[in-house]
Amino acid sequence: MDPTKLRRAIARTPLAPVAAFPKRLATVARHDAKVLRTSARWLVGSREHHNYTYDLTKLSRQHLAWFVSVVCAVPVSQVRAYFGEIESDDALRRHIERTTAGAARRGLADRQVRYARRIGWYAIVRAARPAHVVETGVDKGLGSCVLAAALLRNAAEGHPGRLTSLDINPEAGYLARSEPWSAVVDLVIGDSVATIDALDRPVDLFLHDSDHSRAHEKREFDAVEPKMAPGGLLLTDNVTHTNVLGEHAERTGRRFLAYRETPARHWYPGDGIGVAW
Ligand SMILES: C[S@@+](CC[C@H](N)C(=O)[O-])C[C@H]1O[C@@H](n2cnc3c(N)ncnc32)[C@H](O)[C@@H]1O
Repeated sequence: MDPTKLRRAIARTPLAPVAAFPKRLATVARHDAKVLRTSARWLVGSREHHNYTYDLTKLSRQHLAWFVSVVCAVPVSQVRAYFGEIESDDALRRHIERTTAGAARRGLADRQVRYARRIGWYAIVRAARPAHVVETGVDKGLGSCVLAAALLRNAAEGHPGRLTSLDINPEAGYLARSEPWSAVVDLVIGDSVATIDALDRPVDLFLHDSDHSRAHEKREFDAVEPKMAPGGLLLTDNVTHTNVLGEHAERTGRRFLAYRETPARHWYPGDGIGVAW
């Protein structure tokens, strides 16, 4: 019998899953072996135990450029130029490498500088030129440095702005405590919701990246809502886990979009950027 006809005949019978099993097994085994190889390389080569850093795949970087272009209504070529700016900022890169190498928690941090989706945060700040950015959740301060670098560039072009970075951990933000980046950063230690409640300036760009429980994320957006400047942007780092910002956008009459990043050469599935505007 013709092999194609035979395959079609088997596909109509209960034997079909058994016949397809070897091919299915080979496909999933190839995929899992790749994940295992990447995981083994990471276990040996990286020191990170949370808030992992990695580069984006080329495709994921392209999609991020289009995401920012649509949200900020700027040409995608302009967004790519912003990505180039932060990626070629050698002063920032050297500062992060040096400070990481001397930090108290250096045993749990990688020296290589890898921004992942934070290049999207950078481009959004460059495009939107906010006067006041609030970031909840600082950890080492990688995101704060990236946001501060964008604010410094904006200031050099005549659009000054400041970043309020909030964290409950008094040791957080060691990367963001050096000049010139620290000149535009107000690092506040305490619970994010209490600190948001106490903000006395309108917020042009808000980024949730602290306690990623659904309840806490919602509390932050509820707390910041009355503080938002007209036309302000709300961002979440938790968009691959909850729809809290999507629901907030619907309640408050905003648009909402989500971008899911793809890490290059890493086992971690990646996070994303949710934006309401
Ligand atoms: C994912 S990390 C922040 C990552 C950082 N934005 C970056 O770009 O690398 C989460 C941080 O949130 C902080 N955090 C957790 N609960 C908090 C709360 N209730 N208020 C403020 N910060 C909190 C943690 O101490 C931790 O440093």
